[in-house]
Amino acid sequence: MSNNYINMPFNYMGNKFKLLPQLDVLMDYTKDVFCDLFGGGSVSYNLGVKYGGILFNDFLMGDFHYSVKNDPFTISTHTKEICSYIKDKDTYNTIRAEYNKSPTPALLWALILTCNSNMMRFNKQGKFNQTYGNRSWNSSTDLKWESLLKRYKELPPIRFFKKPVEQLKKIFSYNSMIYLDPPYYNTEAGYNTFWDIEKENILLDYCLNSSSSIAVSGVLFSSKENSPLLVGLQQAGWCVHNLNISYEHVRKNKDGNYQEVLLTNY
Ligand SMILES: C[S@@+](CC[C@H](N)C(=O)[O-])C[C@H]1O[C@@H](n2cnc3c(N)ncnc32)[C@H](O)[C@@H]1O
Repeated sequence: MSNNYINMPFNYMGNKFKLLPQLDVLMDYTKDVFCDLFGGGSVSYNLGVKYGGILFNDFLMGDFHYSVKNDPFTISTHTKEICSYIKDKDTYNTIRAEYNKSPTPALLWALILTCNSNMMRFNKQGKFNQTYGNRSWNSSTDLKWESLLKRYKELPPIRFFKKPVEQLKKIFSYNSMIYLDPPYYNTEAGYNTFWDIEKENILLDYCLNSSSSIAVSGVLFSSKENSPLLVGLQQAGWCVHNLNISYEHVRKNKDGNYQEVLLTNY
């Protein structure tokens, strides 16, 4: 892994960090603005440095990313304090209840660092519901945080949004580079709570009627129903790039063979 790629101190399931070298060579760098509409940060904060501007949408955490970037020291100090208070399941549950009542960026970040597998999970009402993970802010978080602080200084101007992608039709009419990493259809990722076939079809329609360069991440399965979005883009003649990665959460005996792909319209 190149030292130029930074790993985020707030983890997402489906985080594209390991795929960055393969995604990097497949982006269209002739465009000025990079639009990353499914959040997380690992793609924008790494590949976005090569563009003149970034439009970053994270429908669960757009405001969190904005706050951390604009007030990093206050938020990291509070987060460390909250992490040191969380010692067990009971203290974790108290903080989780406090966050769900009055969310703040530091409470959210502390929950991400102390929850099971560091993987945030929200229910349909948008309440954080991941369980305690017996972990905390550690030396690896320190390193990731230092890299992110350095990276903030290298990034072009960023606009943060916190919207479901269905409400971002306008962005598809710009002439930019749009990267889409939607929840993987037909998998069990926690964030799939917010994703369904109707949204797949809306996104398919936006993609097929856009003048931008678009790259869409996904997985193709050999033995179960594939994402209507990926199938529709393939039928429309988009290029299919096979990527190398294996996911522990995709069980081979249950799902048969699978292939991580990037589909592009350029
Ligand atoms: C595969 S993850 C993105 C990971 C990210 N590219 C990274 O590298 O960290 C998919 C994301 O889609 C978000 N999501 C789910 N439903 C959405 C919706 N309707 N609109 C926008 N984002 C949505 C989830 O919160 C999740 O963060």
